[in-house]
Amino acid sequence: MKDLTPDRASLDPIEFASRDEIEALQLERLRRSLARAYEKVPHYKAKFDDAGVHPDDLKSLADLSKFPFTVKDDLRQNYPFGLFAEPMENIARVHASSGTTGKPTVVGYTAGDVDRWAELVARSMRASGTRPGSLVHVAYGYGLFTGGLGAHYGAEKLGCTVVPVSGGMTPRQVTLIEDFKPQTIMVTPSYMLNILEEYKRQGLDPRGSSLEVGIFGAEPWTNAMRREVEEAFDMHAVDIYGLSEVMGPGVANECVETKDGLHIWEDHFLPEIIDPETGEVLPDGEMGELVFTTLTKEAMPIIRYRTRDLTRLLPGTARTMRRMEKVTGRSDDMIILRGVNVFPTQIEECLLAVPGLAPHFQIVLSRDGVMDHMAVHCEPVQGGSSRGLAEALGKRIKDVVGVSAEIVVADEGGVERSQGKARRVVDNRPRE
Ligand code: DLL
Repeated sequence: MKDLTPDRASLDPIEFASRDEIEALQLERLRRSLARAYEKVPHYKAKFDDAGVHPDDLKSLADLSKFPFTVKDDLRQNYPFGLFAEPMENIARVHASSGTTGKPTVVGYTAGDVDRWAELVARSMRASGTRPGSLVHVAYGYGLFTGGLGAHYGAEKLGCTVVPVSGGMTPRQVTLIEDFKPQTIMVTPSYMLNILEEYKRQGLDPRGSSLEVGIFGAEPWTNAMRREVEEAFDMHAVDIYGLSEVMGPGVANECVETKDGLHIWEDHFLPEIIDPETGEVLPDGEMGELVFTTLTKEAMPIIRYRTRDLTRLLPGTARTMRRMEKVTGRSDDMIILRGVNVFPTQIEECLLAVPGLAPHFQIVLSRDGVMDHMAVHCEPVQGGSSRGLAEALGKRIKDVVGVSAEIVVADEGGVERSQGKARRVVDNRPRE
């Protein structure tokens, strides 16, 4: 793999500012963001008043813990535009995330927000090893989902040539990569596996492709998956994180030279880790739920948004801004099986440690009387045999995760393929 470490001169000076400088900037911006929310969004005024706090109570960054949390339901209750801090004539764009039930959650951007978002995706892409002039294949979905357009504007801002392919039509994805020869691909990691499979189906050598780096996010993926994809394509695989409620992709990104977790762009987003049960703020290094406050969003400032993503905060390395560890999973995706917490990422790690298994999987939960039952559906590598795979994976899951799972080895193509975010868990348990 090529060394893609960006020149320091190409970085934004804030990326290597001292902690003191970063925190001073955060405090100034946080004050403004709290005031904007309080003065312009009735929902925040009511919530702050109920909690007996006022933006003027913020004297230090730690004082943020006095302010109430925002949750997804707050967005739903203010559907569609109730949390906007600007009149509609100043809203340049809306996005929405589908969610599993009911109405989508809607977010809005001013022209300034769209521009800052593009800057941050450009910063993320530079950290990933993409350079101005690179050809960038965007296979994140375009539309209300923030992935496609978020990546697109960032790539343009960096000075790249963008190929706005969007998701789906996998054979065509391979044709375009082979013919246009992009250096960068931006796509969900599970859809990248689909593209890899198509390469093999067409008898092409993925290691011979032009790709130098893949910028993968929108769903949890493991370091084991990184190794799998890097080896298959002979390219770097880096992690990009974001969520529509806070902005979209580009809230945090790994640096290609270290690949040791994602640097949070702390000049625009203030992270906290809380105990998901008590809401108490935890010190850096401890595992918990990630919470974000936006520092520069105009159209929809968001205060202490509970992401439900589980991770921990770590000190900066390649940049001075703090890192978040690769997300273990969402609290909603955590399976509690006979008292043991299980995340799909743990199953992914086990699966990739068993030679002969393809990287596609799905977990199916059911109830047997009073007992929950977990089945892991997987399949052999293309053209491979399924002999011994079920025993090997079952044993690995038992040894590493500590639970018994039924292993169902399907025929090739038997496991549902992803076109975007993979559906890792199918829950067939009766609703309580
Ligand atoms: O998934 C934004 C995005 C698009 C990020 C493209 C990266 C690349 P939502 O659809 O609102 O936004 O979903 C946000 O996806 O709370 C996490 O649970 C999950 N997620 C996003 N990035 C990562 C990642 C986009 N790198 C939700 N690792 C978040 C793990 C991720 N989970």
